[in-house]
Amino acid sequence: MTKHSIAVIPGDGIGHEVTPAALEVLDAVGAAHGIEFSRTPLDWSCETYLREGAMMPDDGLERLRGHDAVLLGAVGFPGVPDHVSLWGLLIPIRRAFRQYVNLRPVRVFDGIDSPLRDARGIDMVVVRENSEGEYSEIGGRMNRGFPDEMAVQQAVFTRTGVTRVVDYAFTLAGQRRGRVTSATKSNGIVHTLPFWDELVAERAASFPGVEWEQEHIDALAAKLVLRPGHFDVIVGSNLFGDILSDLAAAVGGSIGIAPSANLNPEREFPSMFEPVHGSAPDIVGRGIANPIGAIWSAAMMLDHLGHPEAGRQVVAAIADVLANSDVRTPDLGGTTSTGAFTEELIRRLKNAG
Ligand code: NAD
Ligand code: IPM
Ligand code: MN
Repeated sequence: MTKHSIAVIPGDGIGHEVTPAALEVLDAVGAAHGIEFSRTPLDWSCETYLREGAMMPDDGLERLRGHDAVLLGAVGFPGVPDHVSLWGLLIPIRRAFRQYVNLRPVRVFDGIDSPLRDARGIDMVVVRENSEGEYSEIGGRMNRGFPDEMAVQQAVFTRTGVTRVVDYAFTLAGQRRGRVTSATKSNGIVHTLPFWDELVAERAASFPGVEWEQEHIDALAAKLVLRPGHFDVIVGSNLFGDILSDLAAAVGGSIGIAPSANLNPEREFPSMFEPVHGSAPDIVGRGIANPIGAIWSAAMMLDHLGHPEAGRQVVAAIADVLANSDVRTPDLGGTTSTGAFTEELIRRLKNAG
């Protein structure tokens, strides 16, 4: 029996609907593979903030640190400004634990309709820089309420920060179809992205087996729609990677299926696994949230924890339900509830094992 300690933060909104689904799947696959999860449930959320004035306790990061991984649902809800909830919980975890790679795979499963006419061959991974870039803490708001009111934020690109995420992307491409596309905007932004481009070119020289190209973010957004099958690994800054990952997820059929892994590749600290989507206040409480993003994120966690076969079986079970039944949530055109979808997936997972 292998044991792992997992911190579980359902967070806000549909985080409370999709995280239990992911946990049920983990228990089912764990039982078959001799993996036991000891879970620490943490109710850190916007509700906690409204009650106690903080998204997580002062020693929150310390309490997470001893775990093998963090499983998170979603953070943010109407009633608490996003900059308060996100800078109070999600972003500090990504940064304190040096989770500088945000890995966001996209596939079109058989049985899912992509909104695109030609969705053949979509199988890509967005490697998003997750600790600096446009999401910097340098800046501020000034002269509130006056005509010269303004807001300033400095984008921060460091040699260390760019190099490590670019190396990760090239290494990953070397294990996949061997192509890296770097998202840039060096034609319009004078300082930061030309530096990003230089560092990408410099690192590319160490990966002669990997083809690479750079695309301006605006043109890349268009190509993702027109020729999605072309892309293998896309590497981008924090903001570009954020936008591209929702776009790529939608191209794959629904933002509800997209998973993500916030990785500390050196494994000095726990990594965090969470769906790409947010708390979806518009559908909360109706039992119709698509749990695939959360379940696939849990599969990425299994892979990270050294159980790739268990992770592969979970993704295969997702593919099986979608390809061989009409069981799916309304975002994918079905009528199935979150719970019934999860039940069907677990039934197929057990049958396959
Ligand atoms: P969102 O992802 O919550 O929702 C966008 C749209 O997608 C909505 O129509 C929603 O119903 C739909 N959707 C999302 N997930 C779905 C699922 N699993 N199944 C079916 N439909 C789904 O994005 P938003 O509306 O921009 O943000 C809502 C809140 O979530 C905000 O507070 C935002 O800051 C936060 N947020 C958090 C994270 C995170 O925790 N990583 C990510 C994105 C947004
Ligand atoms: C995501 C989210 C977050 C981000 C927000 C909620 C801060 O959109 O995880 O993609 O931009 O990183
Ligand atoms: Mn996002």
